Amino acid sequence: MYIEVIHNSKSVASESFRTLRSNIQFSNFGKNIKIIVVTSANPNEGKSEISLNLSAVLAQQGKKVILIDADMRKPTQHKLIEKRNKTGLSKLLLGQISEDAINHLTFDDVELDVLTSGPVPPNPAEMLTSSVMEEILGTCVDNYDYIIIDTPPLLAATDAQILSRVADATLLVVDMKVCKRNQLIEARKRLDNVGANFLGVVANKLDLNENNYYYYNYK
Ligand SMILES: Nc1ncnc2c1ncn2[C@@H]1O[C@H](COP(=O)(O)OP(=O)(O)O)[C@@H](O)[C@H]1O
Ligand SMILES: [Mg+2]
Repeated sequence: MYIEVIHNSKSVASESFRTLRSNIQFSNFGKNIKIIVVTSANPNEGKSEISLNLSAVLAQQGKKVILIDADMRKPTQHKLIEKRNKTGLSKLLLGQISEDAINHLTFDDVELDVLTSGPVPPNPAEMLTSSVMEEILGTCVDNYDYIIIDTPPLLAATDAQILSRVADATLLVVDMKVCKRNQLIEARKRLDNVGANFLGVVANKLDLNENNYYYYNYK
């Protein structure tokens, strides 16, 4: 398992995640931001890696953090953390509660909980609209400082919009090489349409130098 902010904490990318963390924490205008949705216009813009690193960088501050893989269409968090995906969010939404639903990761003194997607269900959007999802998030709010939610792309499914409505903040990850201006505008519009609390853009895959560093810029 490799998490940039944990395993390479001195890198430019890790520093960028710490900047992102500060920006989130100082941007709240007195409102306590707990539930953060991470989304993007298109697939492969970096949502999953960024949500994992954001979760870890918050955990490094001693915060109690849970990362939820709510991309039940193309889930990848279980791969990133190298765990099985037999149980997880989809199972909880079906009322199948199990002891091992949540993965407890520990790196020295850093602790991070991850709820993987569970097996891919036929109707993710419907499941996310259910009152069970509300209950799950309510329980998380009671038990964690931060709930980071990885989602499918905005232009491909309504899932991220559904979750943005109940989140305190939504971050839009943008692959600076691939995402088109009109796609970005449409993505933002879809968030505005549901009254999402838009927190900012995370610019990803900027070429800073020949080392192809990650770079995250918060606006
Ligand atoms: N800043 C970056 N530089 C290089 N590769 C990246 C960067 N961010 C993400 N990737 C790679 O891009 C691919 C898609 O990332 P991922 O987080 O799975 O995107 P998404 O969840 O939006 O589909 C992965 O192979 C990931 O390793
Ligand atoms: Mg993903």
